[in-house]
Amino acid sequence: MQVLKNVDLRPFNTLQLSARASRYAEVATLAELRAALALAGADPVFVLGGGSNLVLARDVDALVLRPLLPGRELLGDDGAHRFVRLGAGEIWADAVAWTLDQGWGGLENLSLIPGRCGAAPIQNIGAYGVELEAVFERLEALDLRSGERREFSRADCRFGYRDSVFKHEAAGRYVITAIVLRLPLRWTARLGYRELAEEIARAGVAEPTPRDVAAAVIGLRERKLPDWRRLGNAGSFFKNPVVDAALFGALRAANPGIVGHEQADGRFKLAAGWLIEQAGWKGRDLGRAGMFERQALVLVNRGDATGAEVLALCEAVRAAVRERFGVELEPEPLIV
Ligand code: EPU
Repeated sequence: MQVLKNVDLRPFNTLQLSARASRYAEVATLAELRAALALAGADPVFVLGGGSNLVLARDVDALVLRPLLPGRELLGDDGAHRFVRLGAGEIWADAVAWTLDQGWGGLENLSLIPGRCGAAPIQNIGAYGVELEAVFERLEALDLRSGERREFSRADCRFGYRDSVFKHEAAGRYVITAIVLRLPLRWTARLGYRELAEEIARAGVAEPTPRDVAAAVIGLRERKLPDWRRLGNAGSFFKNPVVDAALFGALRAANPGIVGHEQADGRFKLAAGWLIEQAGWKGRDLGRAGMFERQALVLVNRGDATGAEVLALCEAVRAAVRERFGVELEPEPLIV
């Protein structure tokens, strides 16, 4: 384990922003992780996973730690679920593909999401009608201050829509070292997301397998979302705002085309992409950053954009949506 100084983090974030870390270390084992924490002493530590949900708006004056801990392991089953442990450093999309290769369904709707397994619980990653929460059993972490091991159950994580305890009280306090997922032994396809059901129907599959669902999800994602290796981005840049039924009614009366889905609690989740498109920002740039032409919710780096340019575009889009609809958009990625 080596601690490097003054490292450009551009290769380590999918928005492809340049920012310098005062110190930087990659750790592949718990022992290396503990050694790095000991070296950091009282200095701040910033844990960087796949960098796929991050806006580096400034240099990071901290020890930037990249947990690359490997591990893919079947722990066993309890008659209803099989339990699979994944090291924090495993690339999520590869881990999903590996479970499917073993013949285990459960993660197919979450295919191709960028990032590493350790970061998945932080924002409760989700796509095509499934959130991590639905397949999550527990996680293992180290307390950054004491170095002690700590487990978090599903309840401890307090998952919400793109949310968990790791964005609140536990923010910046732990490094997640592994996650344990529970995959159903009796699998059924989850095709509640209309576009996914349509994609499966188009493929002409009557009784889809987990692999069929994964293929459909991958097809949808590849059509809509830019590949960050070619065009830097952090996926959806804003959360889909959730508004109460009264506001949704008023918005729909004024905007008959508005896209909203009723939630279990009676509130409505609005499609932020629709709001941004209507506010005139789909495919529009500000400086070297822009809102993607095929999915207005995705902010892209057109090449050498700075963190400041990304934040300026973020604020311009928020202001346009606020002015047009009176709705506040909240950025989804962590802004540093
Ligand atoms: N829409 C538009 N214009 C656009 C984009 C979207 O009108 O430019 C409308 C369309 O009506 C579309 C609806 O918005 O049907 C929803 O769009 P989409 O299915 O692409 O999903 P999303 O709400 O934009 C969310 C997640 C994605 C996830 C997809 C699929 C959030 C913030 N984003 O996007 O997650 O892949 O659903 O489940 O919840 C991510 O978090 O980074 C991410 C990519």
